Amino acid sequence: MLLHLRNILDPQQLQTARSLLGDQAPWIDGRSSAGSQAQTQKNNEQLAQDSEHARQLRELVLGAVQKDPLFFSAALPRKIFNPLFNRYSGTTNTYGAHVDGAVLHSKAPQQWVRSDISCTLFLSDPADYDGGDLVVQDSFGERRIKLPAGDMVIYPGTSVHRVEPVTRGARVASFFWIESMVRSEQHRRLLFDLDMNLLALRQRLGETPETTALTGTYHNLLRLWADT
Ligand code: NI
Repeated sequence: MLLHLRNILDPQQLQTARSLLGDQAPWIDGRSSAGSQAQTQKNNEQLAQDSEHARQLRELVLGAVQKDPLFFSAALPRKIFNPLFNRYSGTTNTYGAHVDGAVLHSKAPQQWVRSDISCTLFLSDPADYDGGDLVVQDSFGERRIKLPAGDMVIYPGTSVHRVEPVTRGARVASFFWIESMVRSEQHRRLLFDLDMNLLALRQRLGETPETTALTGTYHNLLRLWADT
């Protein structure tokens, strides 16, 4: 499931994020954190993780995503990798087709995270750069994604994906992974559909014996499938 989550960051938070990610920020070669296949494809810059800039930005992004009910319903997160930050511009401007590692080591807190779901939070205004589409291959073919600043896309960690060359301006984003309480993509999808339709039914009809019973079904399925 590929899902667009809107307004994860508000304009004030975006401004804070951008001011922490300017030229004075400790940008390093993005290849330092890539696995051996991805290293051959990766040509971008990444924010040094042990910096004060990164610490403040991680807090900002984690606080924002954890407040978003749609994110919670779709991802059912058990562990969240510490958000990372990258920049595509100038001669370091692309990331060719690759798959993310299945199990990745997060530094804050120190933990291994299985990459069930990949997340990209767009921080640059799309009018400020050309190119830089995130292209995700799924069973329906290729999906091209270039979102307004503050919006996020989540997609299965199993997907081959790439970032097209940025030919003008700079594309700055946050990216990270989720280990879900529900490992199966199909099970997560069923739970998300049930949750969204229950929400719509409740808005239309209020609470009824049927919505109560179906909420029970949702939780019984979650109990069946979730690991905590
Ligand atoms: Ni990737």
